[in-house]
Amino acid sequence: MSSFAYRSGVLHAEEVDLRDLASTVGTPLYVYASAGFEKQYLDMTRVFADVPSLACYAMKANSNQAVVATLARLGAGMDVVSEGELRRARAVGVPPEKIVFSGVGKTQGEINYALDQDILCFNVESEPELEQISALASARGRVARISIRVNPDIDANTHAKISTGTYANKFGIPIEDAPRMYAKAAKLPGLSITGIDVHIGSQITDLAPFDAAAERLAALAVHLMGEGHRLEHLDFGGGLGVTYDPQSNSRPPEPQAYAQTILRHTRKLGLKLIFEHGRLIAANAGVLLTRVIHVKQGAGKTFVVVDAAMNDLIRPTLYEAYHHVVNVIEPAPDAPRETLDIVGPVCESGDYLAQKRTMALPRSGDLLAVLSAGAYGAVQASTYNSRLLVPEVLVKGNRFAVVRPRLSYEDLIGLDRLPDWLS
Ligand code: LLP
Repeated sequence: MSSFAYRSGVLHAEEVDLRDLASTVGTPLYVYASAGFEKQYLDMTRVFADVPSLACYAMKANSNQAVVATLARLGAGMDVVSEGELRRARAVGVPPEKIVFSGVGKTQGEINYALDQDILCFNVESEPELEQISALASARGRVARISIRVNPDIDANTHAKISTGTYANKFGIPIEDAPRMYAKAAKLPGLSITGIDVHIGSQITDLAPFDAAAERLAALAVHLMGEGHRLEHLDFGGGLGVTYDPQSNSRPPEPQAYAQTILRHTRKLGLKLIFEHGRLIAANAGVLLTRVIHVKQGAGKTFVVVDAAMNDLIRPTLYEAYHHVVNVIEPAPDAPRETLDIVGPVCESGDYLAQKRTMALPRSGDLLAVLSAGAYGAVQASTYNSRLLVPEVLVKGNRFAVVRPRLSYEDLIGLDRLPDWLS
């Protein structure tokens, strides 16, 4: 059962009434359900229970420390892409031996910080980065465990902005070049080769690209081991898609089917498997709660103007993403329905959360929940239009905690400084 469901006609997060959260914390507001993260994490780890594996949650999906801590309590590792994420993981006690560091442009400062933390593995994205990690590790008298992210030139059939595994993308090194890179890595000081890494994209809803990537990665592993490299793990990245539209008939593959696809190619190798799923774990564990400001009749169109906007949830604007929107008070089955656009107050035509939705017409003051907003929601929020950064609440059963408060206007404008010629 979903962690967000109607109880006596009112949408709840676990046992907490969303109306209560809206009146206590105000809107717009992200609400997360602990059980949502936990279930998805456990479902994904269970299917790999009979092989050595580590699920490193991709923190970029939702890096609130309360979320990271919820998953860390279950034993999750973390996939980080910046010093900021690494610091968040360490701040809530994620052990360094469960942290992998991905990303195409790690700076010297970030590499040094991660070396000092002695993390599990650097996922290296290029030859210059390999040389740099070697030099920095040697200078600090450390050994960096590394895997090289290969680009298998596979089209993940997803939105162009979240596809990463083809040669048109900036990520990884071409898979044909991997043997040469591994030979080079073996000779460089300060490095210990431990794995191979791949990540082909996000919101992938079909197993074929994973199948092709696993086949290529397994073949590369056999080749590299034949050349004398001692591999310990294969990292398949993340990317398994989720259901955004509960009314659609098509469903992304279940973790079980995904695991079978990967294991078909890798079981015989006996290597540890690492995964970096983010969206799969977080997306459906969160909603964006928003209040209707006005209902505005345009020429032949109805606009529901709400207090959340593109700066709070940019996915519809940036990726034409679909997020299902529901009324917090469950409409009567025979309530008249209308086709409408749900838009925010920001001064851009791209500022919408949903377009052409047929639903019971809300009224001014009503609460709406934008579903599947637990991943890539709050983390991509900004203060555009000098709007206050959206707060976050985590629910656990019948309890809740504000895990990021709404900043004040003093916080928002207080960071600006006037130069001496203007003050
Ligand atoms: N590992 C690496 C190296 C990645 O680049 C990503 C996502 C992941 C793991 C996690 O992928 P996931 O399991 O979440 O699909 N902002 C976009 C998504 C960007 C994904 C970037 N990389 C969105 O809102 O759809």
